[in-house]
Amino acid sequence: MDYSIKDIKLAENGKNRVEWAFRHMQVLGLLRDRYKNNKPFKGIRIGCCLHITTETANLVINLKQAGADVHLCASNPLSTQDDVAAYLVKYEKIGVFGRYGDDRKSYYQNIKNVMEMKPHLVVDDGCDLISSLHKNLEYTESLIGATEETTTGVVRLKSLAKKGMLKFPVIAVNDADTKHLFDNRYGTGQSTVDGILRATNIMISGKVAVVCGYGWCGKGIAKQLAGMGARVIITEIEPVKALEAVMDGYYVLPISEAAKIGDIFITSTGDIKVIDIKNIKKMKDGAIVANAGHFNVEIDIASLEKIAGKRKIKECLDEYTLPGGKKVYLLGEGRLVNLACAEGHPSCVMDMSFANQFLSLEYLKNNPSLKPDVYKVPSYIDRKVAEMKLKTMGIKIDKLTYEQTKYMSSWEAGT
Ligand code: ADE
Repeated sequence: MDYSIKDIKLAENGKNRVEWAFRHMQVLGLLRDRYKNNKPFKGIRIGCCLHITTETANLVINLKQAGADVHLCASNPLSTQDDVAAYLVKYEKIGVFGRYGDDRKSYYQNIKNVMEMKPHLVVDDGCDLISSLHKNLEYTESLIGATEETTTGVVRLKSLAKKGMLKFPVIAVNDADTKHLFDNRYGTGQSTVDGILRATNIMISGKVAVVCGYGWCGKGIAKQLAGMGARVIITEIEPVKALEAVMDGYYVLPISEAAKIGDIFITSTGDIKVIDIKNIKKMKDGAIVANAGHFNVEIDIASLEKIAGKRKIKECLDEYTLPGGKKVYLLGEGRLVNLACAEGHPSCVMDMSFANQFLSLEYLKNNPSLKPDVYKVPSYIDRKVAEMKLKTMGIKIDKLTYEQTKYMSSWEAGT
């Protein structure tokens, strides 16, 4: 939290950008208006570990205006927008821990600073705060529960729960329809392409793009790249997803074959060494490699660094020269390219994700005796977020008539 008076200019810049994002976060705007007078989070300490972006700023401002005492740390050192952090500290008086480019030690110290606030509620992105709390249970004495934003985080939580080791209830915000169908698909899709373009300024049209993983993020990335004229290849390990990719019109190949023909590679699986050194060696001279998964584990960078010479071309673009002279290019040090090389998902889509976060936190606060487990976002919240988003977009939909409702609930269809 060393964003001090000397950062005033930075804070001014952050203020303007946070306000710009808020224009596109009208569901959070509705919630801000509804909740700021009745202060549902009065007396509640909320610890957040999120990407420090303009969108996150608007979520934490909502929580503060709804009465909470909020502390925020970075969920990734390369996604922290220092102007946003400075703005939150200076203008909103919110405790922020994180600077762009923090090393591993500072990253975990920032998490510790948030844990030391002994939060009642926790918002996590990737599960690092929740797993740190499991190693430091002395900070959990006031904890009611937590929410998790990402697919990767939910996978980690389910593994904790399966082993019987989860110590408090967690709501898997990622799994809400109004989260992953939009944020993971359209948000990751667009911002990943944005990150690739900002780092390289290459022409997408005509390129062969290899997308590893056809989950919601992979689907979104493939769709955006295809829309810009790339010829897209999908790699998968799940037969159903592979089949979906084929039927959606993509080529599906094993990575060992795709490696030889791709111009751009993007990993989006959540697993390690999806592109290993064997396959990097098969790539064409000039191949561009990026990761859109939460952790920088999907590309085997450690092995690449052992065998290749490295040169920084520019921010977010490193050139590796392999033995024999072939060059491959890595974006954003293999960290999630949409946040390391661009600004993350657009505000419009984070609006729904963070409305789910806000309402799930309220649900946890109102249900303090949930047993430790991974919970779905209650379906009424999901529906409410969709209704509010449609309302802010000025889109009206139809309602069932009495007769139609009756027909749909009858087993005697057709009569
Ligand atoms: N995750 C992906 N995009 C994000 C954004 N813009 N803000 C916060 N978290 C994100």
